[in-house]
Amino acid sequence: MKITFMLNDRKVTWDALPGESLLDFLRRHHVVSVKKGCDGSTCGVCTVLMNHKPVLACTVLAMRCTGEHIHTVEGLADEVEKISEAFGIEGADQCGFCNPGIALSLYALKRENSNAEASEIRQYLEGHLCRCSGYQAQVKAALRYIGGGQS
Ligand code: FES
Ligand code: FES
Repeated sequence: MKITFMLNDRKVTWDALPGESLLDFLRRHHVVSVKKGCDGSTCGVCTVLMNHKPVLACTVLAMRCTGEHIHTVEGLADEVEKISEAFGIEGADQCGFCNPGIALSLYALKRENSNAEASEIRQYLEGHLCRCSGYQAQVKAALRYIGGGQS
């Protein structure tokens, strides 16, 4: 069936398969910044923004995004650049597999609370697993991004 929704501020109409997850749906339509990890709601790499809130795309049916606003990193280039810069400065960049999902959550957090402190950042990023880091550098990078350049 065809569904129409807003993807990165652009109206799209794409076909969805019966029972298809938003994750598989986006990737099948070449939105491959949305990563597939556990496919079972435990790793966070499939995070996208639905109406500006982070959701796990592997747990949402594609049909649920009818009429909704979905954002991925492709649609937030300016913010993603700032986040990447903060990650680079703080040495938080490693394999990068978890980065798109974390970037979207950090952007959502900054919209919600531009004064977020380290403990709030840790709490907000709780569902994001990273196999490479000890999270410390990521939290420092998040503080730098949310604080507009200061960690
Ligand atoms: S792939 Fe969705 S949480 Fe892991
Ligand atoms: S940087 Fe490799 S999984 Fe996070």
